[in-house]
Amino acid sequence: MPTYTALVAGAGGLTGSHLLQLLLQHPDYSQVTILVRHPLPINHPKLLQITVNFDQLEQYAPQLAANHVFCCLGTTIKKAGSQENFKKVDYHYIVNLAQLTAAAGAQQFLLVSSMGANPASSLFYSKVKGQTEQAIMQQPFSAIHIFRPSLLLGNRQEYRFGEQLAVTAFKALGFLMAGSLAKYRGIEAHDVAKAMLATALTPQTGTHIYLSDQIQQIADNR
Ligand SMILES: NC(=O)c1ccc[n+]([C@@H]2O[C@H](COP(=O)([O-])OP(=O)(O)OC[C@H]3O[C@@H](n4cnc5c(N)ncnc54)[C@H](OP(=O)(O)O)[C@@H]3O)[C@@H](O)[C@H]2O)c1
Repeated sequence: MPTYTALVAGAGGLTGSHLLQLLLQHPDYSQVTILVRHPLPINHPKLLQITVNFDQLEQYAPQLAANHVFCCLGTTIKKAGSQENFKKVDYHYIVNLAQLTAAAGAQQFLLVSSMGANPASSLFYSKVKGQTEQAIMQQPFSAIHIFRPSLLLGNRQEYRFGEQLAVTAFKALGFLMAGSLAKYRGIEAHDVAKAMLATALTPQTGTHIYLSDQIQQIADNR
């Protein structure tokens, strides 16, 4: 049985924390390295935590080698405080991570992006997400997997008022979103994590983009 090493950025977040648990439990992964701002209260024989300053990620380059890189990093414009700070996290940190891990020999890069990501979008959030995807696609990985979930569902430690309203609405109206509207249905962050893991373990090359309904299918078929 092949064994892989994984590197996760954003492992303390909603999607990343589910993914981390799945990776630690999976026999195909021999080591899981996480890049964190603050150590997480988790101990596991396969877990290696590296506390990093994402502004100077190149300093940690020798520790960034892994077969599969999972990026669940991201913030919101509200949390970041400005568009510039948002772009620092959702573009610069992520692209820098991709460049450094590609240089360190990673084969796969799996990114949680967002529904609507489009470098030509008039919406700043969607534009940045699209620019990030575009920059990732330039990196020399054997496989690049971009997940574009709709609204992420799950138990968040912090309270996001607008998002909570959307979650309630999406849950109430989810049954209406069938057929071509299925890609707009909210998706459990746990299912996004399941789909990322299943995708990483399916041998394939090239660049692949998954909308919410496709992510759900992958998670359900796992
Ligand atoms: N929320 C939604 O409904 C939604 C929908 C579609 C796509 N997305 C995208 O999906 C991705 C994952 O979302 P999520 O809700 O699972 O993430 P999340 O819970 O907000 O967690 C984000 C992760 O990014 C890290 N992070 C944030 N700001 C940082 C900074 N300045 N420096 C270093 N690390 C930082 C956080 O680290 P700490 O643990 O240290 O805070 C955390 O681990 C994001 O890119 C998001 O934009 C979200």
